[in-house]
Amino acid sequence: MSTLLKATDIAHAFDYQLFSNVNLEVKKRESIAILGRSGSGKSTLLHILSTFITPNQGKVELFGKEVYSLPKDDIEAIRRYDLGIIFQAHYLFKGMTAQENIEIGTILSKKNIDMKLIERLEIAETMKQKIGELSGGQQQRVSIARVLSKQPKIIFADEPTGNLDRETATLVMDVILEYIEENNATLVLVTHDESMAMMCNSRYKLENRELVGF
Ligand SMILES: Nc1ncnc2c1ncn2[C@@H]1O[C@H](COP(=O)(O)OP(=O)(O)O)[C@@H](O)[C@H]1O
Ligand SMILES: [Mg+2]
Repeated sequence: MSTLLKATDIAHAFDYQLFSNVNLEVKKRESIAILGRSGSGKSTLLHILSTFITPNQGKVELFGKEVYSLPKDDIEAIRRYDLGIIFQAHYLFKGMTAQENIEIGTILSKKNIDMKLIERLEIAETMKQKIGELSGGQQQRVSIARVLSKQPKIIFADEPTGNLDRETATLVMDVILEYIEENNATLVLVTHDESMAMMCNSRYKLENRELVGF
């Protein structure tokens, strides 16, 4: 089965209608970017696609299973083993070292730390340091290493490079895209940065309450 994520006819509103009629399909080794202005509902859509918000309408299938009709334990297992969630606010433990933070992810998912990945993200020398001693950009790369070390099949990333300088942002995107290729995984990236979106296989925009490819 090559389709990892399929969303059909999704609609959602909070105080006002955010979007409707959203359809999306992402296959193995594919990366897609979702662009849109602030407040257009990008983060909400990402939460809907990644098991965290039940939409008002529509269906989300991950690995061929309709997510919002699964029992809670099954959803938890998918989150733990199959999904990698990179949000802008990273939830690292400040008093622990970079390595200990990454180990939390690998122990929970029963995987090993991939030192090649750590080298590639240029954070090998930070492993013994406490998170509080690292720069914002280093912390962000540690959190990305933690997510990728779990070996997820689908990566959901919300502005993962927002706080990084261009060179580091490009490095992080390169590493994530290499991961996708090597692991037959998928990336759903939310960004307002067109140059990051251009690195993906396809692009969509949330505009006028619709998701359109361009
Ligand atoms: N949990 C929530 N409850 C109520 N309103 C929300 C909630 N989450 C987001 N919103 C509202 O939905 C709109 C879209 O938010 P968001 O999805 O974060 O947009 P974006 O990521 O594109 O900036 C905003 O007006 C925001 O205030
Ligand atoms: Mg957002």
